[in-house]
Order: sequence, then structure tokens, then C-alpha cells
Amino acid sequence: MEIKVELTQNPKTKPASDHLGFGNVFSDHMFIMEYTEGKGWHDPRIIPYGTIAYEPSLMVFHYGQSIFEGLKAYKTDKGEVVLFRPDQNMKRLNESCDRLCIPRIDEDFAVEAIKKLVAIDRDWIPEAPDTSLYIRPFIIATDPFLGVRPSNTYQFMIITGPVGAYYKEGLNPVKIYVESTYVRAVVGGIGAAKASANYAASLRAQMVAKEKGYTQVLWLDGIERKYVEEVGTMNVFFVLGDEVVTPELNGSILPGITRKSCIELLRSWGLKVSERKVSIQEIFEANEKGLLREAFGTGTAAVISPIGELYWNDRRITLSGGRIGELSQRLYDDLTGIQYKKKPDPFNWVTTVK
Ligand code: COI
Repeated sequence: MEIKVELTQNPKTKPASDHLGFGNVFSDHMFIMEYTEGKGWHDPRIIPYGTIAYEPSLMVFHYGQSIFEGLKAYKTDKGEVVLFRPDQNMKRLNESCDRLCIPRIDEDFAVEAIKKLVAIDRDWIPEAPDTSLYIRPFIIATDPFLGVRPSNTYQFMIITGPVGAYYKEGLNPVKIYVESTYVRAVVGGIGAAKASANYAASLRAQMVAKEKGYTQVLWLDGIERKYVEEVGTMNVFFVLGDEVVTPELNGSILPGITRKSCIELLRSWGLKVSERKVSIQEIFEANEKGLLREAFGTGTAAVISPIGELYWNDRRITLSGGRIGELSQRLYDDLTGIQYKKKPDPFNWVTTVK
């Protein structure tokens, strides 16, 4: 399928790349294509970024049939533009499609669409250290209809924008509130899909944690409120003695691409990584025994985010003396080293945008 291109006549002013936040500035162009039952996905095009008019009856507004992805484009020291594992994002997008009854997309075509869009807006990729172009592919249900059923029409869109650190702390440790009242997802639900609704479900707990002075919440399982699931917008890892532990993908946890990449990196360094059930009790007990060496979150937006403090049921622990743990730092250096092509890429994770 050919992607038609309409370039903007009114290019926007780009922000200075050394004061970027996250998710508040958008590049000049966006990608859009339609799905119609009986016709499949059609009419792929890149057009100027801008508003779209919709009927208020659009199904996505009412029943939340909406999924998304997040990945980044990086500019290397040599001015080359690269993406990190975009195939994995498109594979996961299709897994989310399956769970939300959305028709699958062609993964290779979608990666090509991302590359074409990024190439057109390559001047939007910031160059200051630790900045990148965030890429947000998403799909929404577009039938104007109020009955509850899967939509017969959809739009797949991709928008991009220059970003800095997701958390204002950057690589500095964040304070995490272990959430015992609210839950994000349950096994059998949509927690493993990158569904917009999962983020709506997370907001209340996040507000409460913020009011108490915490950056994010750590979610426990929805049934027993016992086992660790994930942190805010990230997967989570704990270093317990010589073992690096991360919760196993049980059906309610998001299968993070940074999570997967960190596991592969850690194993390639000869470290023991266990994907298993880990209770919050075990973490606090390991801390009492002096075994909890560090903890960190992983995600595309946040990259590696060391955890400096955990609060659970009136108990508070400080990790790594409130500093960046050794492994968090090494993972950050290696992962971003690969992403910005400052280090070798032994796994072939990085792909060039021509
Ligand atoms: C990402 O890490 O890219 C995400 O999608 C998390 C997002 C909610 C900012």
C-alpha cells in the first residue's frame, strides 16, 4: 500500500531541545489510516498534524475501545536516525488488537509507516543528551453508534513529539507508594494489553500517591493484594542478593519491551534473572535481612527509573541509600548506549531510518 504524503504549509516553531518535558509538543505531521469492515485497512496517509472533527457518538468516547504503543526515535552523534525494536511494538499492538477485538494491522507495513513519518519530521528529533522523539501509534473505534459491540470502523494514527525525561527526577531515584486499596488490573482482564482504559483505571491511585508525596504507585495483584505487578507506567525489578527478580507475565502485567530488553541484557552479563511471583512481604523481609540491594522501573518513556523509597502499610524503606543503584546505572548506560549507537548493538535491536 502506498502512503500518500501531504506536507504542511505552516511548519511550527520547534522547542529548544534542552528544556523538554514529556508529551506536550507535537511534530508537524501525523500518519492516519482507516479500517472499514469488508475492505480492511486502507488509505494510509501522512498529513499535517492538526485537529480532527468527530461525531460525539463515536464508539471510542463511550466504551473505550482504544489501544496505543510508545517508542522512540534517537539521533546519534553522527546525525543518523534510529528506532529501538519497533517490530516488538507492532507485535504488541496486534496482541492488544486481539484482546480489544480490533482488526490486526500489518506489522511490517506499520514499521514502514513509522519510519516514513519519522523521516519526514527528522528535524524534530532533539539532540540534547537524553532527549528523543517519542512516537505514539494508536487505534480508536470510530463507528458513530451507542450499542455495546466491537466497532466496524477504526483509525490507526501515529503522532510524534520531542521529549526529555518522563519523570522530573530523570535518573534520580523516585519515591513509590505501594497501593493496597485500588487495583490496576486482574488476570483475565485487559492488563496485559496496552489499552487506554488501563491508564484511566490507574489515575485515582496515582492522585492519592501524589498527594502523599510519592511519584508513582506500585501495583499489587488484584485478588490477594499480595504479589507485585508493576509500577505506574513501568515494569519493576528488584535485586535480592545475587538474584534479579521481576514479576512473571501472568496476564495482568504489561509485557514491556524495555523489560524484555533489560532481562536479555542482564542475562548476557551472566546475572541470574528470575521471572517469578514476588510478594511485597518478600521484598520487605529481604530488606530486613540486608538482601534488597536495589529496585528500579523500566519503560520506554521512563527508560530506567531507580526506586529510592518504598512505602507500604505504614512501613517505609529506603533503597540504595536513596542513590542510583549500581545495576540501574549500568542498565541505563548500556541501554541508552545501544539506543544512541554509542555502544555496540549485539542483539541487533536498533534499526536505521533512511
Ligand atoms: C511508554 O513508556 O512509552 C508508555 O507508554 C507509558 C506512557 C503511559 C507514557
